[in-house]
Amino acid sequence: MTTTSKAIRIERHGGPEEMQLVQVQVGEPGPGEIRIRHKAIGLNFIDVYQRSGLYQLPMPLQLGMEASGIVEAVGAGVTHLAVGDRAAYASQPPGSYSELRVMPAKNVCRLPDGIDFETGAAMMLKGLTAQYLLKKTLPQGGLQPGDHVLFHAAAGGVGLIACQWARALGLQLIGTAGSPEKCQLAREHGAAHAIDYKREDFLARVKEITGGKGVKVVYDSIGKDTFEKSLDCLQPFGLLASFGNASGAVSPFAPGVLGTKGSLYLTRATLFTHIATRESNQAMADDLFDVVLRGDVKIRIDQRYPLEQVQQAHRDLEARKTTGCTILTL
Ligand SMILES: NC(=O)c1ccc[n+]([C@@H]2O[C@H](COP(=O)([O-])OP(=O)(O)OC[C@H]3O[C@@H](n4cnc5c(N)ncnc54)[C@H](OP(=O)(O)O)[C@@H]3O)[C@@H](O)[C@H]2O)c1
Repeated sequence: MTTTSKAIRIERHGGPEEMQLVQVQVGEPGPGEIRIRHKAIGLNFIDVYQRSGLYQLPMPLQLGMEASGIVEAVGAGVTHLAVGDRAAYASQPPGSYSELRVMPAKNVCRLPDGIDFETGAAMMLKGLTAQYLLKKTLPQGGLQPGDHVLFHAAAGGVGLIACQWARALGLQLIGTAGSPEKCQLAREHGAAHAIDYKREDFLARVKEITGGKGVKVVYDSIGKDTFEKSLDCLQPFGLLASFGNASGAVSPFAPGVLGTKGSLYLTRATLFTHIATRESNQAMADDLFDVVLRGDVKIRIDQRYPLEQVQQAHRDLEARKTTGCTILTL
């Protein structure tokens, strides 16, 4: 069977105007694949990198890394999903900006009954990221309740999930955000402290909050604008977990800097290493489903755009106008 689906595609890297609504053919799933009919689609900053060309991908490209929906067909060898299952995923390759797609089954998880489709679409990529950052991207000796960590863009999609999860773990999360309102939101979601880094020097404030000691980990998704000061926020042996480039890619730097600043550790982490196997993906998803079902982490969807208005969704995300999660509706 072949059917058609609305999809958002780019023919070349560039601005939001490059994203065009097209009709694509969707066929039967091959071995290890499923066909899923989407109910809602998650918007992520990685979609901006893939559209702009910061992350180069072959063209033409159907965008989108996250969605929820109903499994419509299952290919040979897929045993963890069945036709009719409610499901959600964060997955490569891109292609979730569509009504219907065929995709690898590996990263698709059954969605628990207590989680609705919109929440499922919003939470997978951002929630699994918060999971591996707070639970698996740790300094030497790990993190203990009461430890200070610094989390940039704390009022964003990943940020508000991380604030709540950190609170549940007993961490003292210091969040940064770009306005007083965003700082307030971060505090309401569990940040012990929030710094408006557009108006305040976040390094000075971190030193003040920690009595001059600095933090054990900085989770930095801003990149170019924050990287150097983030290193200065760390205690000796502290860890900089660089995981994004919202302000642009970090410039090359000499490893000797880590020595002079206190035998620091640096990692450039990506979700896709952590969810490389079905087993690790499912274990992380189970942990995420658990905190959401318990109510420790609430998935806040602050923006909804019809798929047809994806250009505006990207403009707003890049202009720092959004908070929490954003979904595209069908
Ligand atoms: N490596 C991974 O595994 C992984 C996985 C998921 C997400 N990420 C990264 O995590 C970050 C958050 O992702 P998200 O989808 O949840 O996005 P988001 O946090 O909702 O949006 C990005 C936020 O970054 C802040 N920002 C600071 N400087 C910016 C600039 N020059 N341009 C645009 N935004 C800027 C803005 O918040 P303020 O106004 O408060 O500064 C903005 O709202 C992104 O950098 C993303 O690439 C990485």
